[in-house]
Amino acid sequence: MGEQSKSPVVAEAHLVDTYHPPAKMLEKHPSKPHLSSLEHYQQLYKESITEPEKFFSTKARELLTWQRDFQTVRTGSLANGDVAWFVEGQLNASYNLVDRHAFKDPNRVALIYEADEPNEGRNVTYGELLREVSRVAHVLRKMGVRKGDTVAIYLPMIPEAVIAFLAVTRIGAIHSVVFAGFSADSLRDRVIDAQSKVVITTDEGKRGGKLIGTKKIVDDALKQCPDVTGVLVYKRTGADIPWTPGRDLWWHEEVEKWPSYIAPEVMNSEDPLFLLYTSGSTGKPKGVMHTTAGYLLGAALTGKYVFDIHDGDRYFCGGDVGWITGHTYVVYAPLLLGVSTVVFEGTPAYPNFSRYWEIIEKHEVTQFYVAPTALRLLKRAGDDYVKAHMPKLRVLGSVGEPIAAEVWKWYFEVVGKEEAQIVDTYWQTETGSNVITPLAGVTPTKPGSASLPFFGIEPAIIDPISGEEIHGNDVEGVLAFKQPWPSMARTVWGAHKRYMDTYLNVYKGYYFTGDGAGRDHEGFYWIRGRVDDVVNVSGHRLSTAEIEAALIEHHSVAEAAVVGVADELTGQAVNAFVAIKNGSEASDALRKEFILQVRKSIGPFAAPKAVYIVPDLPKTRSGKIMRRILRKILAGEEDQLGDVTTLSDPSIVEKIINVVHEAK
Ligand code: WT7
Repeated sequence: MGEQSKSPVVAEAHLVDTYHPPAKMLEKHPSKPHLSSLEHYQQLYKESITEPEKFFSTKARELLTWQRDFQTVRTGSLANGDVAWFVEGQLNASYNLVDRHAFKDPNRVALIYEADEPNEGRNVTYGELLREVSRVAHVLRKMGVRKGDTVAIYLPMIPEAVIAFLAVTRIGAIHSVVFAGFSADSLRDRVIDAQSKVVITTDEGKRGGKLIGTKKIVDDALKQCPDVTGVLVYKRTGADIPWTPGRDLWWHEEVEKWPSYIAPEVMNSEDPLFLLYTSGSTGKPKGVMHTTAGYLLGAALTGKYVFDIHDGDRYFCGGDVGWITGHTYVVYAPLLLGVSTVVFEGTPAYPNFSRYWEIIEKHEVTQFYVAPTALRLLKRAGDDYVKAHMPKLRVLGSVGEPIAAEVWKWYFEVVGKEEAQIVDTYWQTETGSNVITPLAGVTPTKPGSASLPFFGIEPAIIDPISGEEIHGNDVEGVLAFKQPWPSMARTVWGAHKRYMDTYLNVYKGYYFTGDGAGRDHEGFYWIRGRVDDVVNVSGHRLSTAEIEAALIEHHSVAEAAVVGVADELTGQAVNAFVAIKNGSEASDALRKEFILQVRKSIGPFAAPKAVYIVPDLPKTRSGKIMRRILRKILAGEEDQLGDVTTLSDPSIVEKIINVVHEAK
């Protein structure tokens, strides 16, 4: 950690333009934004920090439906790692996402399924959703799932993914969604760590015109998961698939057996709602645990204020349900607020680069939310693809990585026609919902800045060298939060010490984000990116240590070092340096095998973009790999390597430079 310095600020912040909520956005608004002005935000924000109990108790009663009210709003502390919210309260997630809207207006559209092939989709109303969720909940109970059990979900972006989330929560079980791009090995590790006994999947998935053998991957994974007793399979394509009688069940056959209502299980506020595995700088992925009431409140509150969701809106988040963005903003936020959410199965490039814009036009989407990596791809494809008519679009969200000013402006001018507000939302799997972000219709924005803290978030910029908080504006350091907020993760599944050490023990009394950040002269935040060994590829969080561990599994690999390098399209790309064992020969074929090894043990999205086979890695005399030197060489900054004489073999640097030059 810590190549960050306390250098005085954010010089560029003084030069950038400030954009106010576009007048045209306000003109086409169905009513008006939830907050009247920036001052209104400031006043509520202040209350959320000075009187969090008052602020959040009001919001929790306003936005959620409780089966039993709470008395204790907040207890515990960051220092002790025992934060709890709305302690005596009871509620059920699926009731809050489905029932209360279905009772009021069963014909309202909940899910707009936009299938991989345009025109093959369909809508699911809140009434239909309640019936299908209930049936699947019965099926899961029959399969032996009980309150507090975890259920693994390995599903593509289809309505049944949302139904599966809700059915699991309805019976008080905990969903553990594994992105359907993860390999069998990764799925296996997550099923074992979460102790899931049931897995939900499809026969196949379909994305960008290609088929994905989800059931086959599940079968491979489960070869080493003897405790899994049931696999529920939704028929998506009708492919011929292997079947294990007694374990595998067809979704369509099972749901027919059960009635279309089941009462929701009564859950305590702090009962676990879900696990989601994410990469850290060391070790295996962590099962980040979120609890029921606090997480739901964070989702509903940010949906309402950040995206300015109003009744009748049609919300489209392009993230996959396998990541936190899909959890909170495909499923939880829009359904908690009773609006329609687009479930998009495909890719932005299929059948062509107009796909997102055509979806927005066809469904009269009001809010759109996506990662900059997709925007870079679409910007590069050319403005001609953005011909669709998108008159209802009011909010354009960005998430997952810093958005460059040119991309921000393209999003604003070409996509939004200057009639929609950009919200660059900073948050993490662990924060549950947006934490530093503009509020649409309210907050002025600066391209590249995530702007101001959300309610209840009290940011601190910390000097990583001294560990002291740096007060005032025009400061740069690492980003931490000083107060607990409702949707923060409560633990790492089965590894509370790891949770403490990663987030709460780094700077005692603070939650540490792992990101570097600056606060400019007006108090706006600029996220710089990770200060640990986490790489962000296309908005996917990858750990260099995990990719190295995958490479080492190959029999020819002696040692491996992985670094992230800047990449025009994906933000960062994975580059691997591999020292091979005696007797192995460097070749293109071997490099391909290494790439395959990573695809196999983690998933295709983690595959290194380049593999350099080198005689040895640069190491200190104590054996620590100097990744900094590798990063500099890749950046073409060989003249700025600093002192290499402390390396155990300084001559290795020249040899690595030659390998990199030859490859380029
Ligand atoms: C990391 C969290 C949270 C949704 C998707 C990623 C980076 C996230 C932004 C943003 C700059 C951002 C941070 C963070 N990040 N949003 N708006 N600007 N960086 O979730 O996989 O948990 O990754 O994504 O580095 O720590 P995640």
